[in-house]
Amino acid sequence: MRVALITGAAQGVGYTTAKTFAAMGYHVVLTDVQPLDAQIETLSALGGSVSALSGDISSEAFVTELAEKVACDHTALDVLVNNAGISMICPAEDTSLDHWQRVMSINLTGPFLLCREFGKQMLARRRGNIVNVASIAGLHGVIDRSAYNASKHGLIGLTRTLAAEWGGRGVRVNAVCPGWIKTEMDEADQGSGAYSDSDIINRVPMGRFAKPEDVARAIAFLAQEDSFINGVSLPVDGGWVADASWDDLRLKKR
Ligand SMILES: NC(=O)c1ccc[n+]([C@@H]2O[C@H](COP(=O)([O-])OP(=O)(O)OC[C@H]3O[C@@H](n4cnc5c(N)ncnc54)[C@H](O)[C@@H]3O)[C@@H](O)[C@H]2O)c1
Repeated sequence: MRVALITGAAQGVGYTTAKTFAAMGYHVVLTDVQPLDAQIETLSALGGSVSALSGDISSEAFVTELAEKVACDHTALDVLVNNAGISMICPAEDTSLDHWQRVMSINLTGPFLLCREFGKQMLARRRGNIVNVASIAGLHGVIDRSAYNASKHGLIGLTRTLAAEWGGRGVRVNAVCPGWIKTEMDEADQGSGAYSDSDIINRVPMGRFAKPEDVARAIAFLAQEDSFINGVSLPVDGGWVADASWDDLRLKKR
């Protein structure tokens, strides 16, 4: 049975991606800093083959333990999805070093550690692939998100570099770059008054938020076996990054 590991699998994009891979016949290993008992129960009841280990992906000790557990239980991974991440909305001039480092450690250092540990296993088998969940905030600047945007730009840089370094040894590395998605992260960000639904809907050519399922399907597409796609950062954004129009011009076309 093929094995996929999804980080940040307790909710949002990670949970939906876990459900998608379970439905495709993968054994899915869930990980999250939150407990995962309820998710295991629901996915098992749907007929999925699932297991879990909770912990903090920014901890080197936890990532090493996770990699050892997967190697012991399954020999190796076929797919690693680096999805866990946190948001941080704050003017750059008010961003503390602690906040900056927390965002970097979860959004960039964590994925690096997971790529390093599971990459070693994949390189030894000369097969496997990694999908990193970046953001359109990794492709463009967005006001008041200096730490978050820098972490996602860094994740795209890591994706490209590993694709170049490992592609010749059978391991592909790609990223998805979602636009704004309706998840708990969006609820918390909107709760702080940072933006509203209409800000996002008006900015997107396709006129809606991304759904977790849109992102999960793109991840599954990039993770397909025998693919020749390596090193891409695929927008899943309803056309946001393609569109440099001003709002009135876009809205006239609806
Ligand atoms: N929601 C959006 O609008 C949006 C847009 C673009 C990209 N993204 C990215 O998509 C990914 C998933 O986002 P989401 O909207 O589902 O977010 P979410 O907040 O709903 O879920 C994130 C999950 O990651 C887990 N997590 C956080 N810190 C962790 C840590 N240190 N170790 C392990 N797990 C940890 C959380 O517990 C949570 O279950 C993130 O990387 C996010 O940056 C989100």
